[in-house]
Amino acid sequence: MAIPTRPFGRTGWEVSEIGFGAWAIGGSWGDVTESDARDALFAALEAGTTFIDTADVYGDGRSERIIRDVLREWRGPRPIVATKAGRRLSPHAASGYTRANLEAFIDRSRKNLGVDSLDLVQLHCPPTEVYYRPEVFEALDSLVAAGKIRFYGVSVEKIEEALKAIEYPGVSSVQIIYNIFRQRPQELFFREARARGMGVIVRVPLASGLLTGKLNRSSEFAADDHRQFNRHGEAFDVGETFSGVPYEAALEAVDAIRPLLPQGTPMAAFALRWILMADAVSVVIPGARNRTQAVANAAASQLPSLAPETMRALRQVYDERIARHVHQRW
Ligand SMILES: NC(=O)c1ccc[n+]([C@@H]2O[C@H](COP(=O)([O-])OP(=O)(O)OC[C@H]3O[C@@H](n4cnc5c(N)ncnc54)[C@H](OP(=O)(O)O)[C@@H]3O)[C@@H](O)[C@H]2O)c1
Repeated sequence: MAIPTRPFGRTGWEVSEIGFGAWAIGGSWGDVTESDARDALFAALEAGTTFIDTADVYGDGRSERIIRDVLREWRGPRPIVATKAGRRLSPHAASGYTRANLEAFIDRSRKNLGVDSLDLVQLHCPPTEVYYRPEVFEALDSLVAAGKIRFYGVSVEKIEEALKAIEYPGVSSVQIIYNIFRQRPQELFFREARARGMGVIVRVPLASGLLTGKLNRSSEFAADDHRQFNRHGEAFDVGETFSGVPYEAALEAVDAIRPLLPQGTPMAAFALRWILMADAVSVVIPGARNRTQAVANAAASQLPSLAPETMRALRQVYDERIARHVHQRW
């Protein structure tokens, strides 16, 4: 069955409400073979996914190049491919977000993805200072005018960054963390995003695997998996790993969620369905490292709406067990 579509802000695009997050097929999630990566992406496309999220730094371009190669073989509808720029800067400083640097990153992504014009480029969680530099957004406007990108948006860490970013008229989309463990976007941000016609991309929907219910106290991760090397924010914002929830507290909350699952519903699909209950969401982009996961995630759109009492119970889990760890940090 096809995945239902939603409008993507003011772009005129209609995208599948479940997309594909292509970080794991690039790197930082332990070893994912080229063959598993290709299978995962093909499975998502076959299931009706029409939105892919990647970044120039995922596997230093590996994710973008796998997407290019798969799409060269794919005979179905052409999906929207959103990539990101900025994280190749070293040091990663606001002063590096110049037109020249952005253009060089974008040219590299055009090459990696094998396209003349990128569908959507997102600033990749830039330092907060960047949102207060209109010249960065003017540079992106000029790259649209030059035909190198069709639309641009931002991927943010903090809600306040999103609220600032959407004041720029050229910003078409915001990518943000929103899941059962990160409920604050529901308050002000979704209202403002809808009022301004933003495409809203929801990332880390499974809290890096926690909200699949499969992790436990003895789960082990490879040294090159961010769930090992960034557990305490050593390499990038800790909010990107397990949504920033301390591991023990998260496992206890997952146990509190288990009894709320309707009979036979996998927790991963349930967690994705929870996100889709919000109208402001345009597309949720679960990561998948193989065909099985991609198929399971795409199937979440077929689940019925969650009952109001289930939604309330999930809010209670958040309020009682999770909010103190995350609510005022992001
Ligand atoms: N700064 C940014 O802009 C930024 C940051 C983070 C993510 N993102 C984007 O958001 C996407 C999604 O976030 P994410 O990948 O970090 O986290 P996620 O979607 O919450 O978790 C993905 C991981 O969960 C496991 N998984 C997925 N589906 C599963 C299933 N059905 N059953 C069991 N396990 C499953 C897989 O890992 P294992 O099998 O190894 O457990 C997979 O790699 C990324 O791919 C990327 O495109 C962007």
